[in-house]
Amino acid sequence: MHTEPPPPPHPPRPRVTAIMVASLDGAVAAPGTAPGPGTSRGLSTPADRELFRRLRRATDVVLVGAGTARAEDYRGVRRRRPLPDEPAPGPPPPVAVVTGSADLDPGAVLFTDTLTAPIVLTTAAAPAGRRDALAAAGADVAVLPDLEPGTLLAELARRGHAAVLCEGGPTLLGALIDADAVDELRLTLVPVLLGGPAGRIATGPVAAVPPRALRLAGHAAAADGTLLLHYTRRAHPPNG
Ligand SMILES: NC(=O)c1ccc[n+]([C@@H]2O[C@H](COP(=O)([O-])OP(=O)(O)OC[C@H]3O[C@@H](n4cnc5c(N)ncnc54)[C@H](OP(=O)(O)O)[C@@H]3O)[C@@H](O)[C@H]2O)c1
Repeated sequence: MHTEPPPPPHPPRPRVTAIMVASLDGAVAAPGTAPGPGTSRGLSTPADRELFRRLRRATDVVLVGAGTARAEDYRGVRRRRPLPDEPAPGPPPPVAVVTGSADLDPGAVLFTDTLTAPIVLTTAAAPAGRRDALAAAGADVAVLPDLEPGTLLAELARRGHAAVLCEGGPTLLGALIDADAVDELRLTLVPVLLGGPAGRIATGPVAAVPPRALRLAGHAAAADGTLLLHYTRRAHPPNG
C-alpha cells in the first residue's frame, strides 16, 4: 500500500515582542509639523525612547508594516555605542518591512542610511519593477507565497532570527493578534489626551476570538508620568 510520507515538522516560529506607544485616550499617532494623522514619534517620551533602544539592542530583527515605514520615514537600526572595555558590537539587526504593494521609495533612508540590508517581505503580486528597484537599492527582497503572519515568521525563522521586535503599525499588529502570534507586548502610555482621529494600537477586520489573554509581567513609571507596561502570554506555543 502506498503511504504518503509524514509532513515535515513545522519549524518553531520566532518569539514576537510588540512595542507600541499610545496616549491615555488610546491615540497611536500625534500630529507633527507635516499634514496628516501624525506619527508615534509625536507621542514618544524619553522613557519610551530608552525602552525602544534597549529592545532593539536585544532583538534579531525589527519587523514593521510598510505604512509605518512610509509614515515614519524608517531608517536602519543604528549601531549602539560600546560600553567602556566592551568589544565593538556586531552589526545591528535588519529592519524587515511587510508590503503587499512594494510601494517603498528606493531613495528612502530605509535603504540609503543603514548598516544592515533591510529585508522586504512581499509577494509576486507586487509589481516586478518595484521589487527590482528595491533590490537594486540594496534590499534583501523575499518574495513569499502570501503575507500571513505564519508565512512572515517562518521566513524570519528560516533566516535564523529567533527574536522579532514588531514596531507596528496597527494593521500589522492586528494581523499578528488575529494569528495569535504576539508573545509579548510592551505598551507605553504617555500622559496626554489627544482626541482626534488617531486609531488604536491594533486594527483588523474582525476581533480575535477568544481574546488573547496576557499577564502583566512588569511595569514602571517614569518621572514625567509615562507608564511602561510589559505583558506576556502565559506560554510560548512550541510550534506556532
Ligand atoms: N503608536 C505606535 O506605537 C505606532 C507604531 C507604529 C505605527 N504607528 C502609526 O500607525 C500609522 C500607520 O498605520 P498602518 O496600520 O498603516 O501601519 P502598518 O501596519 O505599519 O502598515 C500597513 C501596511 O503594511 C503592509 N502590511 C502590513 N501587514 C500586512 C499584512 N499582514 N499583509 C499584507 N500587507 C501588510 C501593507 O502595505 P502595502 O500598502 O505596501 O501593501 C499595509 O498597507 C502611522 O500613523 C504610524 O505613525 C504608531
